[in-house]
Amino acid sequence: MAIVEIRDLYKEYRARGKVVKALNGIDLTIEEGEFFGLLGPNGAGKTTLIQCITTLLIPTKGEISVCGYDALREPSKVRASIGCMLTGERSIYWKLTGRENLDYFGALYHIKKRRDRIEELISMLSLEDFIDRRVETYSSGQRMKVAFAKTLIADPPVIILDEPTITLDVLASRELRQAIKEINRNGTTVIYTTHLMFEVEELCDRVAIIDEGVIKALDTVEGLKRISGDERRIKLSLSDPSTVAEALRGVESVKEVSEENGSVVVVGGALDSILKAVLSSGVELKDIDVSSPDLENVFLKLTGKRLEE
Ligand SMILES: Nc1ncnc2c1ncn2[C@@H]1O[C@H](COP(=O)(O)OP(=O)(O)OP(=O)(O)O)[C@@H](O)[C@H]1O
Ligand SMILES: [Mg+2]
Repeated sequence: MAIVEIRDLYKEYRARGKVVKALNGIDLTIEEGEFFGLLGPNGAGKTTLIQCITTLLIPTKGEISVCGYDALREPSKVRASIGCMLTGERSIYWKLTGRENLDYFGALYHIKKRRDRIEELISMLSLEDFIDRRVETYSSGQRMKVAFAKTLIADPPVIILDEPTITLDVLASRELRQAIKEINRNGTTVIYTTHLMFEVEELCDRVAIIDEGVIKALDTVEGLKRISGDERRIKLSLSDPSTVAEALRGVESVKEVSEENGSVVVVGGALDSILKAVLSSGVELKDIDVSSPDLENVFLKLTGKRLEE
């Protein structure tokens, strides 16, 4: 079932007489329970899109519905359906403790039995060690976790996270991703923007590649790799590369065979036919390295840009 539907969405900003077309006709359907990624370079329109979905911005044109509610006609119902973490650490009060923050926002959102809900979140996200200290004494990872808990306080069906790991170190970032995955496994729909390829590969069921306010492609990670036409590369270390290279040139659907100092690199072809050809050549196979097509290359092909400058 569709939980977020976006039709023909446009957003223009007018700043000092100049018009910036941030979104240029976005059509998008996100299914209930999905972990959906928005991937795009700086200025692609990701934040603008999210702000339109959360009703913080009014689109120039187009329609958005969340959980069946129309973002223009029923904005408060849309807001009640979404938990969002857009500004991360800055979305909580640093002079209060983590618990006081959760209590404050719980009261603001009229959460029934909020003490119980807060306890639940503390144990779910392992916040026990620092929840009763002031936020200003936290590490960034701890602040992000409490900001994430705040996002979940009303147990919304949809959560939206805008580059949640951007300020975190490797460990804190991994922990936060783990927590987000867990929430998604329990049924919450997640919309996640990032410009980190590995996060998309690790987390997302489907991904929209967005650039210049347009969706350039939308598919699973595997599907995106296929679209690009990139093929698997297999590097074989061999005692006699030229014999094997010759044999591999005859294998069906192999696109490219090249020799590089003692190895043969094969692009395309079915894994089992390649291995059969190698084994039946009688040449000793010393090592094998298989690399899948890289999402970064797909992105480069579709947008002409690199994600990480
Ligand atoms: N308030 C604003 N006034 C004018 N232009 C804006 C405003 N907010 C965003 N823009 C412009 O709209 C375009 C899309 O910006 P947006 O912030 O949505 O991109 P983004 O994909 O989130 O980028 P980033 O990865 O840097 O966060 C950019 O060209 C940006 O400069
Ligand atoms: Mg942004």
